[in-house]
Amino acid sequence: MSAPVTVPSLAEMNEAGEAIVMVTAYDFPSAQAVEEAGVDVVLVGDTAAMVVLGHDATTPIAMDEMVTMASAVRRGLKTPLLIGDLPFGSYEASNELAIASAQRFVKEAGCDAVKLERGGASVDRARAIIRSGIPVMGHVGLTPQSASALGGFKAQGRTAEAAAKLAEDALALQAVGCFAIVFEAVPAAVTEAVVERLEVPTIGIGAGPATAGQVLVWHDLLGIHRGHSPRFVKRYAELGAATVGALREYADEVRTGSFPAAEHIYSIEPAELAELRRYLDQESLSSAAAWDWEPLP
Ligand code: KIV
Repeated sequence: MSAPVTVPSLAEMNEAGEAIVMVTAYDFPSAQAVEEAGVDVVLVGDTAAMVVLGHDATTPIAMDEMVTMASAVRRGLKTPLLIGDLPFGSYEASNELAIASAQRFVKEAGCDAVKLERGGASVDRARAIIRSGIPVMGHVGLTPQSASALGGFKAQGRTAEAAAKLAEDALALQAVGCFAIVFEAVPAAVTEAVVERLEVPTIGIGAGPATAGQVLVWHDLLGIHRGHSPRFVKRYAELGAATVGALREYADEVRTGSFPAAEHIYSIEPAELAELRRYLDQESLSSAAAWDWEPLP
């Protein structure tokens, strides 16, 4: 059995130039699959708002919903580092709120660490959570919780000024002790230039190959959702299409009577069945009220 991935072991992987594999997951069966596949880091991302709950943004998801999902993922995982993604509204207002929300992920869901988005005030929140003893992962570039302020779900850091601001945010998050930083939807050359100045592991999603690791959203990676995928997504399977195909076949077999077949059916000894039939055929039974029914002795 592999040793559990920890915050120090991720730093060692980074130093050794070993790629870090991260994926999102939101429930128990996905966690079991991730465990078996040997992934290093699992994020219970607030993308759950969109890919699991069907919202059109990440902002509506509640802390309670995140904790429920993270607990389910924890039950399926032993080895990867488990990170809970602090949802919109669970950390911005004060350091106290940020610590309380991070503690819920650790106490109620068994997470090893939390993630929050943006630089600016989030740097203070990250510092407070880290001081309370919980490791924090930062997140710069496209930060979906502030997508409307950023002009939508689009690449960030495409001017020298915007890229410099992104670099400052990443350096500030590192300075307060974040153990790793996600770079989302950032030009590859900008990522490369900034990553060179960082010591902590960086994890990219749409940020090119220079980061220490990569992360993809579960439903994107497996081709579960059918709509438009961002440019940076690679679909490693088409489970959405396979699921619809399987459901159509099931519906067809139920309608034509070919399911259930003999191999899906329980049997009963013929003598027992004959006794049941004799019982059901009794004249008195047909007039008895349902609640008078007595089991056979
Ligand atoms: O919520 C999420 O899934 C994320 C990843 C895209 C990094 O933040």
